[in-house]
Amino acid sequence: MISVRFPGDASVQDRTMAVCRNWGWLLGCSMLLLLLLEWAQACGKLTVDPPTVLFGENIRASCAIPSNHCRMLKDGEIEVLWKLSGELLPGAQQYQHSDGTTVSNLTINHFNRTTASLGCYVLWNGTPQLVGLQTINAGYLPSRPKNLTCMMEIPKYKLMCQWDFRQDSLLPTSITLWGSKNKKPCQLPYDVISCNASVNQHFCIFPRLSLQLYQVMSFWVSATNALGSAE
Ligand SMILES: *[C@@H]1O[C@H](CO)[C@@H](O)[C@H](O)[C@H]1NC(C)=O
Ligand SMILES: *[C@@H]1O[C@H](CO)[C@@H](O)[C@H](O)[C@H]1NC(C)=O
Ligand SMILES: *[C@@H]1O[C@H](CO)[C@@H](O)[C@H](O)[C@H]1NC(C)=O
Ligand SMILES: *[C@@H]1O[C@H](CO)[C@@H](O)[C@H](O)[C@H]1NC(C)=O
Repeated sequence: MISVRFPGDASVQDRTMAVCRNWGWLLGCSMLLLLLLEWAQACGKLTVDPPTVLFGENIRASCAIPSNHCRMLKDGEIEVLWKLSGELLPGAQQYQHSDGTTVSNLTINHFNRTTASLGCYVLWNGTPQLVGLQTINAGYLPSRPKNLTCMMEIPKYKLMCQWDFRQDSLLPTSITLWGSKNKKPCQLPYDVISCNASVNQHFCIFPRLSLQLYQVMSFWVSATNALGSAE
């Protein structure tokens, strides 16, 4: 967010000039910034596998820097650095492919933060330049939503379903209530209706139109995050 403050007595023209001057400066600066970013990011590629893990599991990251894409770096001079949320991380293994690509591989053992950003940098004139940045998250599988109860609201024929759910996975989770005609075990449900809820909303209402009256219907709730789902 950028705010420009005008002096109280400035004419419209002065104001426009002020904006233009500010925007001109801004444009120049962002061009420079973009060029720098473009240079560093065209310079290599960061991959993190997986970017979301079970709390305490290992993460592997790899940063590949093709020699011809880093014109500012001279061959044989590439030094890759890793930072986790700003702290230098030692222990990466760096080697060179026959095509000149420099690869740095890093394993983070027992990742025990809920979130952190992992950055790969190349050292250029003694200053680390960012090549790639990736957010890493750790958490747990969602717990099962429990105690689903559904009640038909006569006379409106709305179906109100509610459940209990504990959001303890540390990860963004989506909740969906599903309904289908007579879902049997080992059978794919058919004529499925669904309703999305937020983690803190423990109910859904199906309007009459989506329900088939006098039919046996099954309902279930699923909780899903980046690591999996539970129902
Ligand atoms: C480095 O990591 C990449 C990507 O995970 C992998 O394909 C490659 O085999 C790794 N190299 C070594 C020497 O571990
Ligand atoms: C996370 O792991 C580091 C290194 O293994 C350890 O020093 C630190 O105490 C751990 N933190 C938590 C919250 O478990
Ligand atoms: C299940 O949900 C109903 C209705 O919300 C509630 O009255 C009941 O106490 C819940 N049962 C358990 C075991 O949480
Ligand atoms: C629920 O969310 C999923 C994923 O965002 C979406 O594909 C689906 O259409 C939504 N369903 C309803 C009934 O809004």
